[in-house]
Amino acid sequence: MVYLKGEDPCEFDVLVVGSGLAGLLAAIKAARFARVCLLTKDALYNTNTWLAQGGIAAALGDDDTPAIHLEDTLQAGAGLCNREAVKVMVEEGPRRIRELLELGVPFDRVAGQLAMTREGAHNRNRVIHAGGDATGQVLHATLQNRLLNNKAITVREYTFVTDLLTCEGEVVGLQTLRGETYRAGTVILATGGLGRVFLCTTNPEVATGDGVAMAFRAGAEVADMEFIQFHPNVFESPKGEMILISEAVRGEGAVLWNSRGERFMDKYHAKAELGPRDIVSRAIVDQMNRQGSRCVYLDMTLRDPLFLKSRFPTIYAMASRYGLDPAKDWLPVVPAAHYAMGGVRTDLHGETNLPGLYACGEVACSGVHGANRLASNSLLECLVFTGRVVERLEKNGRNLPRAVQQKHKKSDEGSKNLSLEFTRGKKLQEELRRLMFTKAGILRHAKDLLTAQRFLKEHAWLADAAPQDRATWELKNLFFLANLIVNSALMRTESRGSHYRLDYPQPADAWRLRRLIWSGKGKKEEDLLAPLSL
Ligand code: SIN
Repeated sequence: MVYLKGEDPCEFDVLVVGSGLAGLLAAIKAARFARVCLLTKDALYNTNTWLAQGGIAAALGDDDTPAIHLEDTLQAGAGLCNREAVKVMVEEGPRRIRELLELGVPFDRVAGQLAMTREGAHNRNRVIHAGGDATGQVLHATLQNRLLNNKAITVREYTFVTDLLTCEGEVVGLQTLRGETYRAGTVILATGGLGRVFLCTTNPEVATGDGVAMAFRAGAEVADMEFIQFHPNVFESPKGEMILISEAVRGEGAVLWNSRGERFMDKYHAKAELGPRDIVSRAIVDQMNRQGSRCVYLDMTLRDPLFLKSRFPTIYAMASRYGLDPAKDWLPVVPAAHYAMGGVRTDLHGETNLPGLYACGEVACSGVHGANRLASNSLLECLVFTGRVVERLEKNGRNLPRAVQQKHKKSDEGSKNLSLEFTRGKKLQEELRRLMFTKAGILRHAKDLLTAQRFLKEHAWLADAAPQDRATWELKNLFFLANLIVNSALMRTESRGSHYRLDYPQPADAWRLRRLIWSGKGKKEEDLLAPLSL
């Protein structure tokens, strides 16, 4: 295709929002044929990718095949994965890893071969990693370097995107908090996760789900919002920070003990500590409830200290900062919100239902994760589907239609300006996050979900407001996402994957193939019905 070469400094061929793996890769790849601008609301590195420890799953080993990886992924997804999307992901995975190697990512090796480990619910060792347990940092630093040295890419850090601009149902650009208008034929959303909806989370402060909220406001479909993954091993610092301890430690032999010093995981799953994340997280909560304890303990002491220090340098250093030695001490851990399986609904090329809008990475819902993501499949999904987005664009990308450039519409036109005083905004955010963690978290029940729903209704005024600062925008987005999560969780009257209802503890046949897909279509949020699609 031939792109327009406009003079306007805010006009590009492709706008990428977000700077995690999906955003960096989308920008680097698209810059081979288009003028690209990447916008991110904070510093480039401040992403979930940077914090990723475990690695990337791919069928690279001699004893592995995409078919085995597919089966493991479908099994974890509890009957709700889009099989076609999973097939694409596992089959393209090895090729996409080779692309990363060509971009210079130094994955760890043993005797010259890529080192591979196992994580929960994998039947093969297939998780590659870098810097031991610093996979995300190494990956991000390598790609960030490529990005910053690429003259075809304009980078805007600390630029909060408030909304997408649409014209006659098509996305034609975006609006920033500073009031700038960026126009482009294509917007790629790569804004990452929404873990900050919950009080206890592994996600950084930036993970407020802005992408899902802005896409929905523009008319995009959003799916699978009830499925939130809770990571089993999270260390809570004395200051209340939640620090991830990679599942790879259990892959390398670490075990879990309850507060009475009993191993318990074999009572919950045949693979014990290597069971799927949802089962391990619920087992931990069950043990904490039974013993009235605040945590369980992760024991890596079976492994040699030299091995632990070289394989898990990040975790080792973190534990040492808190006076713990993983080679001698058990580490206290609790489950915390980690990953959203749902998001902006996309097809096999990352296309949304809105012309001009693509999504990739955690913000997207390609259907590969179903009701529960298999460990280390998230970076793989980023790699594969971001690659497909850019390939699709190269083939079918569109120019910004000249005629519509000036006629775009903002979602908050006519809304009342709102800027919450800092302490009030912070307090409200904490109230929301606590409520979501306790009433719509790992174990759910209609009465708790209804309590959460009442609270959200009392704050419906936020949905109609036009925030004037980043914190208020993030709060508005968090409330919006909480609404979708609670309403979806209430509707799904069964337990499946990461969604567990104490009042409906079994999977129900009636829900086996049903997904909740939300779409605004210009209606107000409380009027929404969720069409069920097979
Ligand atoms: C981990 O290292 O346990 C996190 C990796 C993931 O979420 O897949």
